[in-house]
Amino acid sequence: MTAVRAGVVGAGYVGLTTAVCLAERGHHTVCVDVDPDRVEQLRNGVAHIDEPGLPELLRQGLAGGTLEFASHCAGLDDRDVVFVCVPTPSGPDGSADLSAVDNVVDELAGVLAAGAVLVLKSTVPVGTTRRVGERVRSAGIRAVSNPEFLRESHAVYDFRNPDRIVVGTEDADAAAVVTGVLGNHAQTFVMNPESAELSKYASNAFLAVKISYANSLARLCGTVGADITDVTRSMGADVRIGPHFLAPGPGWGGSCLPKDTAAILHTGRRACVALPEIESARRTNAAQPDHIAAALRRALRVPLHRARLTALGLTFKAGTSDVRDSPALTIGAALSRAGATVTGYDPRLGALDQSRLRAAAVTPVDDPYLAAKDADAIVVLTEWPEFRELDWTAIAEQAPGAVVLDTRNLLDAAALADAGLRYVGNGTRSGY
Ligand code: UDX
Repeated sequence: MTAVRAGVVGAGYVGLTTAVCLAERGHHTVCVDVDPDRVEQLRNGVAHIDEPGLPELLRQGLAGGTLEFASHCAGLDDRDVVFVCVPTPSGPDGSADLSAVDNVVDELAGVLAAGAVLVLKSTVPVGTTRRVGERVRSAGIRAVSNPEFLRESHAVYDFRNPDRIVVGTEDADAAAVVTGVLGNHAQTFVMNPESAELSKYASNAFLAVKISYANSLARLCGTVGADITDVTRSMGADVRIGPHFLAPGPGWGGSCLPKDTAAILHTGRRACVALPEIESARRTNAAQPDHIAAALRRALRVPLHRARLTALGLTFKAGTSDVRDSPALTIGAALSRAGATVTGYDPRLGALDQSRLRAAAVTPVDDPYLAAKDADAIVVLTEWPEFRELDWTAIAEQAPGAVVLDTRNLLDAAALADAGLRYVGNGTRSGY
């Protein structure tokens, strides 16, 4: 692998992970972010995102001189390849808002040298890379699509060990530059930019469909006396189906699946192509709060509007401090609107965006035992493994007679029963 001069624009989950991992590979990397405070922190070796392994790589890159941070694109003029990793949030109609991407491309068009490769890692709608390519062609810059498939909380691992690398371009030389920089042995698929862009949306939408299907099956299991864990275990053993993304829960959330399913539906509408599977997956997901509220109404010994509830887990999944589009907060907000009092505990509570907790009317309590005090119901919403290790006898003393509604089927039902708590799993025989 030949070392290149690399640039990254955007120091969020994708951009910062990309930058520290490129630097680890020996590419001299300049990472640009518009937020000067963030740039200052990063220069001092302080990461603002919570990713295993990232702080070490950040410090290593800074100390080794392979990693630099800047607050504007001007310093990227000598870069061979620049990865654009800025957000593409959902607009009101579900379409991806491309203003950040467009601004960066305009800047780079005036900065990069002829021959440079501009790589769109941001998740962008079909047609964007070709449009960007036309915009920068007169400056001799090539645009390539290279969607990222990193999972939050596994981002460094996923960068180092990708299932596949997708490179969207019809320029074989530009494709070779990108695969050379990423330089690893994953399956690499070179295709036209439209296919590369769509493969990202198609993958995330499929994951959403898979989880919603598991959530619908869990409802059926809870009604007909079947157990979702046994059903998905049997399904997952079939290599055509696979065991992943079949765990039922409070619904899917986070910064990608909700936004990307909305965006692919928007693309479908514009192309006059229906995508009913994805529409249906979103409907199933949107109905999760009502489904959980109904289960609580059945399990509680007091009316929901007078109930004191404890939410265990507030992040959208375990291993992260991200609460963007967290199903736990959507459900907390719905239960608060129904009149319940909701307190919430999360192992990363101190690092969570408190304004989102306030917006959901969830009162944070930084101790699981205090959070459970006098609760009528304890609702497990995030699959933090440490919840299994809680002293459930102590919790039962704090909340005598409480019911534990385990949307993730995380806890040991027998241990909770021994502790004197009523346990209700998701899609199980004694569940909801
Ligand atoms: C996702 C994609 O997995 C990743 O490839 C892409 O680059 C970004 O979007 P991420 O948003 O980090 O990654 O979360 P992911 O691990 O996919 O989980 C998404 C949501 O689905 C979470 O709310 C999670 O709790 C939920 N989920 C996941 C389930 O409810 N059940 C499952 O079996 C798996």
